[in-house]
Amino acid sequence: PLIKELFGLTQLEAELAAYLGVRQVIVVPGDADESDWVKKELGRAGARLLKQVSIPDQIVAVAGGSTIYAVAEMMMPTPALKMTTFVPTRGGLGEAVELEANYIASLMAKKTGGKYRLMHVPEQLSEESYQTLIREPHIREVLDCLRRARIVIHGVGDAKKMAIRRKSPPEVLKKLEESGAVGESFGYYFNRQGEIVHRVQTVGLQLQELTRVEKMIAVAGGASKAEAISSICSILSRDTLITDEGAARAILQKV
Ligand code: F6P
Repeated sequence: PLIKELFGLTQLEAELAAYLGVRQVIVVPGDADESDWVKKELGRAGARLLKQVSIPDQIVAVAGGSTIYAVAEMMMPTPALKMTTFVPTRGGLGEAVELEANYIASLMAKKTGGKYRLMHVPEQLSEESYQTLIREPHIREVLDCLRRARIVIHGVGDAKKMAIRRKSPPEVLKKLEESGAVGESFGYYFNRQGEIVHRVQTVGLQLQELTRVEKMIAVAGGASKAEAISSICSILSRDTLITDEGAARAILQKV
């Protein structure tokens, strides 16, 4: 807290919370675009918050990406976390294995001594195979577990960067560009007004199911994610945003 006062971060947190309409904003010093160390700090803040808000026998839904990976890396056992089940928010999205929600959920369980479930589903699904898969008993069970999640922790990405990272076909890239997509989360792409302009068909948590979740925690930093965070957080993550100074200043246009 003292360090935060010194850097004026407390003020920044309050301004950003009011601007985005998010209940709680935590800002760590620096810019994750410029240093990996800042991403580790985002991870530390995320791990600390999870530890503070956790209760025994809860389900935590975990998204993918390098920022949530950083959170997992910083987690440690606590009595409540040992009694927590970590579930991936969705199956693969076509990313490197260590960036996938499955892997990160298992890593959180390993770090805390908790339990985990996996969602073994392929990434690009036709409507037909999607309908078949969600009826599979094993998948249904994991989906049920996901729907009972008390906490959801997720990342936010720049729309174009995410589409490229997922090796989306040219027609998707074109659609995103034309529809003014700026941010991505949970496989949904949003424009500046926070409207969904595209979604990846995968098995997992659906956006409308998030309204039932008790605690939504978004973790995302770096000035390059400013637009993405603004487009998503005012709609999706009204609860808690953990970000860095770089993103916070860029959102508030204080650079
Ligand atoms: O692909 C999973 C995901 O959580 C996306 O929804 C999000 O846009 C992205 O990862 C964030 O990744 P990173 O933390 O590496 O920027």
